Amino acid sequence: MSAALSSNRGAVPSIIGHRGACGHAPENTLSSICKAHDLGATWIEFDVKITADGEAILFHDNTLERTTDGVGNVADFSLADIRELDAGSWYSETFAGEPVPTLVDAIRLLSDLSLGANVEIKPVEGLEIETAEVVCRVITDHWPQDKTLPLMSSFKDACLTVARDQLPECDRALLVLEVPDDWRARAVKSDCSAVHVWFEPLTQDQVLIIMEAGYPVRSFTVNEPDTAKRLLDWGVESIITNFPERF
Ligand code: G3P
Ligand code: MG
Repeated sequence: MSAALSSNRGAVPSIIGHRGACGHAPENTLSSICKAHDLGATWIEFDVKITADGEAILFHDNTLERTTDGVGNVADFSLADIRELDAGSWYSETFAGEPVPTLVDAIRLLSDLSLGANVEIKPVEGLEIETAEVVCRVITDHWPQDKTLPLMSSFKDACLTVARDQLPECDRALLVLEVPDDWRARAVKSDCSAVHVWFEPLTQDQVLIIMEAGYPVRSFTVNEPDTAKRLLDWGVESIITNFPERF
């Protein structure tokens, strides 16, 4: 990766599509990414894990059942096996036959659509380092030189540390459900520049404390305009939403 790549610092917008625009299309698919773009989103979030043969794919769950017609653990299947699956019919017949995309597929589409991205590294238990290494390698090899780099996030500190070491050009966000007491130490350790937190338990005081420490707060998964307004009034920088057109 060359120093010519564009940093994402300061580029993150107030609205980020969640798993593409998963209120309108099957999550973490190319159709969902296209839908987010059609609805006016300029950035999207998606989840990445790895297959048994070490390929990076867009996928949320550890198991195949909820979002495909497959059965079993994602990590037990090769990319070729996973490519055979239907990741659209569970959502609606309109999306029948939609494949599980690779991270490379997604990067190409993001580039074509000029979309920015929050890449959530979502390993299965025990594959934190390997997953993060694959994600970093794919981004290094495939992210276009002239496009704003993705923002990396993860619930797993081990993934953030790998990203810090292997992709220092990309900003990182500490991802948490609830703000932990040691949030700042964790953010410092993996050199994160922001905190991404579930909106439900989040309080205005927590937002203020994190912001005053110099970290933007972004919140997920916010689907109601009143909730978004409250959070943005508190100073939350971005909301991650299934319905980007609502805001
Ligand atoms: O990255 C924000 C959000 O996507 C984290 O939760 O479970 O939807 O991946 P989850
Ligand atoms: Mg996610």
